Amino acid sequence: MVLAAGISAGVALMLVSCDTAPGLVFTPLAIPGAHYAGNQACADCHKDIVRKFPASPHARVHFGNSTMAGLAGCESCHGPGSKHIESGGGGNFIINPRKDPTACFQCHLGVSAEFNLPQHHPVIEGHMNCGQCHDPHGGDIFKPAGGLAMARRNESCAQCHRDQTRPFVFEHPAQREGCITCHNPHGSINDKMLVESDPNLCLRCHAQVQNASKPGQIYIGNSNHTGYLTIGTCWTSGCHTAVHGSNVDPRLRY
Ligand code: HEC
Ligand code: HEC
Ligand code: HEC
Ligand code: HEC
Ligand code: HEC
Ligand code: HEC
Ligand code: HEC
Repeated sequence: MVLAAGISAGVALMLVSCDTAPGLVFTPLAIPGAHYAGNQACADCHKDIVRKFPASPHARVHFGNSTMAGLAGCESCHGPGSKHIESGGGGNFIINPRKDPTACFQCHLGVSAEFNLPQHHPVIEGHMNCGQCHDPHGGDIFKPAGGLAMARRNESCAQCHRDQTRPFVFEHPAQREGCITCHNPHGSINDKMLVESDPNLCLRCHAQVQNASKPGQIYIGNSNHTGYLTIGTCWTSGCHTAVHGSNVDPRLRY
C-alpha cells in the first residue's frame, strides 16, 4: 500500500485528549483528501464487523468535542474513510493496522514504549501484528482475531509457542496464572521478555526462608538452597531449566 508513509507523516492536525482515559492524547489519523464518514457508512459493506463492534472496548471510547464524534469508532484505527468508500473499497485510501501499528500507538503510547525495549515481539519490524494477540473488533480484545476457542489468555501464546504450552507430566502450577506472570508480551529490557531478570522472578511465589535451627542456611520449601542463589538464576543450566513443565522430573530440572 503506497499511502502508508504519507498517512503516518501527515497527521498532527490537532491534539485531542480522551475523556475515558485521562492523560491519553490522540492525534487523529489523516489520509490526503479524505474526511471522516462515521461508522454507519462502513455498515453497507462490512456488516459483520459493524454488527459485532459495539461489544469492543473501543466502541466505548468517547471524545468530548462533538466534532470528533466520528472518531469514536472504525475510523480511529482505519483513518478517514470517505475516499475508500467513493472508490468502492479495497486497500487503497484506508489504513490497515495489520500492516502498520502506528494507528494503535496514537493512543497507546505506553505500549509503543514497551515495543521499543530491547527484547520484544517483532511487531514494529513488521513480522507480527497486534491482531495476532488482540481481536480489534469483538468483545474479547484478548482473543486473537483468528478465533481459536480461547478459554485462557495462554492460548493466544499457544498458537506460536507449542513447546511451552503443551501438557506436561509434571506441570508447573505457575502456568495457571498465565504466561504474563513471568513474561511481558509487549517487551522488556530482560532476556526472553522476562518481567524480572533474577531469582526474584521465582521468589515472588517461592518464599526464601532462613532456617532458625541452622543459622545462615537458606531454604526454599524443604530444600536447602544455601549457596545456590549465588550461582545464577533459578533456571540456570543444572537447576530448574524446565520452568514451563517437565516430563521426567517433578523438580523441573530437565
Ligand atoms: C462501498 C463499499 C464499502 C464501504 C462503504 C466501506 N468499505 Fe471497506 N472495503 C470494501 C471492499 C470491497 C474491500 C476489499 C475486500 C474486503 O477486505 O472486504 C474493503 C476493505 C477494507 C479494509 C481492508 C483494507 C486492506 O486491504 O488492507 C478496511 C480496513 C476497510 N475496508 C475499512 C472500512 C471502513 C473503516 C469503512 C467505513 C469508514 C469502510 N471500509 C467502508 C468496501 C467498502
Ligand atoms: C482498535 C482499532 C480498530 C477499530 C476501532 C476497528 N478496526 Fe478494523 N481492523 C483493525 C485491525 C488491527 C485489523 C487487522 C485485523 C487482523 O489482522 O486480523 C482490522 C481489519 C479490518 C478489515 C479488513 C478485514 C479483516 O477482517 O481483516 C476491515 C474491513 C475492518 N477492519 C473494518 C472495520 C470496521 C467497519 C470498523 C468499525 C465497526 C473497524 N474496522 C474498527 C483495527 C480496528
Ligand atoms: C482512539 C484511541 C485508540 C486507538 C486508535 C486504539 N485504542 Fe485501544 N483503547 C483505547 C482506549 C481509550 C481503551 C480503554 C477502553 C475502556 O477502558 O473501555 C482501549 C483499550 C484497548 C485494549 C484493552 C485494554 C484492557 O485492559 O482491557 C487493548 C488490548 C487495545 N486497546 C488495543 C488496541 C490496538 C491493538 C489498537 C490498534 C489496532 C488500538 N487499541 C487502537 C484507545 C485507543
Ligand atoms: C504476543 C502477544 C501480544 C501482542 C503481539 C500484542 N499484545 Fe497487547 N497484550 C497482550 C497480553 C497478553 C496483554 C495482557 C497483559 C496483562 O493483562 O497484563 C496485553 C495487553 C494490552 C493492553 C492493555 C494493557 C496495557 O499494557 O496497556 C493494550 C492497550 C495492548 N495490549 C495493546 C497492544 C498493541 C497496540 C499491540 C500492537 C502494537 C499489542 N498490544 C500487541 C499480548 C500481546
Ligand atoms: C503469532 C505468533 C506469536 C504469538 C501469538 C506469540 N508469540 Fe512469542 N514469539 C513469536 C516470535 C516470532 C518471536 C521471536 C522469535 C525470535 O526472535 O527468534 C517470539 C518470541 C517470544 C519470546 C522470546 C523467545 C526468545 O527465545 O527470546 C517469548 C518469551 C515469547 N515469545 C512469549 C510469548 C507469550 C507469553 C505470548 C502470549 C502472550 C506469545 N509469545 C505469543 C511469535 C508469537
Ligand atoms: C514461572 C515463570 C514462567 C512462566 C509462567 C512462563 N515462562 Fe516462559 N520462560 C521463563 C524463563 C525463566 C525462561 C528463560 C529460560 C532460559 O533462559 O533458559 C522462559 C523462556 C521462554 C521462551 C524462550 C524459549 C525457551 O523455552 O527458553 C518462550 C518462547 C517462553 N518462555 C514462552 C512462554 C509461554 C508461551 C508461557 C505461557 C504458557 C510461559 N513462557 C510461561 C519463565 C516462565
Ligand atoms: C505465580 C507463582 C509462581 C511463580 C512465579 C513460580 N512458581 Fe514455581 N511453583 C508454584 C506453585 C504453586 C508450585 C507448586 C507448589 C510448590 O511446590 O510450592 C510450584 C512448584 C515449583 C517447583 C516444584 C517444586 C517441588 O518440590 O515439587 C519448582 C522446581 C518450581 N516451582 C520452580 C520455579 C522457578 C524456577 C520459578 C521461576 C522461574 C518459579 N517456580 C516461579 C508457583 C510459582
